[in-house]
Amino acid sequence: MNLAGKNIWVIGASMGIGHALVKELGSYTTNLVISSRKEDLLKKLATEINLPEENVIPFDITHHDEAKEAVHKVLQLMGNIDCIIFTAGVSQRSLITDTQFFVYDKLMNLNFLSIVNIALTALPSMIEKKSGHFVVLSSVAGKFGTPNRSGYAASKSALHGFLSLCVLNIRKIILMLRLFARFY
Ligand SMILES: NC(=O)c1ccc[n+]([C@@H]2O[C@H](COP(=O)([O-])OP(=O)(O)OC[C@H]3O[C@@H](n4cnc5c(N)ncnc54)[C@H](OP(=O)(O)O)[C@@H]3O)[C@@H](O)[C@H]2O)c1
Repeated sequence: MNLAGKNIWVIGASMGIGHALVKELGSYTTNLVISSRKEDLLKKLATEINLPEENVIPFDITHHDEAKEAVHKVLQLMGNIDCIIFTAGVSQRSLITDTQFFVYDKLMNLNFLSIVNIALTALPSMIEKKSGHFVVLSSVAGKFGTPNRSGYAASKSALHGFLSLCVLNIRKIILMLRLFARFY
């Protein structure tokens, strides 16, 4: 994908991989929107790459109505979205016997359902335009059993299932769904 002039939305931009990616993308395109919860960190990053403040859209991806609203805000700001890069996510390290139900609930909500919600909200505009990229960072834990990662592995594994079927269901349009698995 040629990035020049593309409208790119990075979700999970305040820290880690998303933050590093935005710094890199800043030299290819100025049509960037950056999101996550910590507005102060996002604004700092925006200043570093000369991004207008209106291109910072903070929200919590687990608040599903707020997330849908964020998709509409980005569409209003950019007209269309060429690429959504989803780097927001959370990990886990604990034995199954030490892990309470709420941990699974949180991991599935954040690492899986929030992505489904944003995909379902953003896909119609990509389908209408017959183009779009939806890039999600996964993990090798979603493919192979990994000690102390029962909930994390389950959430990434669910993601693999959902995105692989998205590709089959909407293969007639020029839509790219990419899943990047990172080794740890
Ligand atoms: N790092 C690794 O070695 C590694 C290995 C394999 C896979 N991965 C995957 O790669 C992705 C990124 O990992 P990372 O290490 O860069 O993580 P990270 O440093 O912890 O950063 C996570 C990002 O997600 C955002 N985020 C977390 N909860 C959120 C929420 N409820 N709403 C909106 N944004 C939220 C955080 O920002 P706020 O706190 O501002 O919301 C932050 O910008 C994850 O999906 C992870 O599973 C990472």
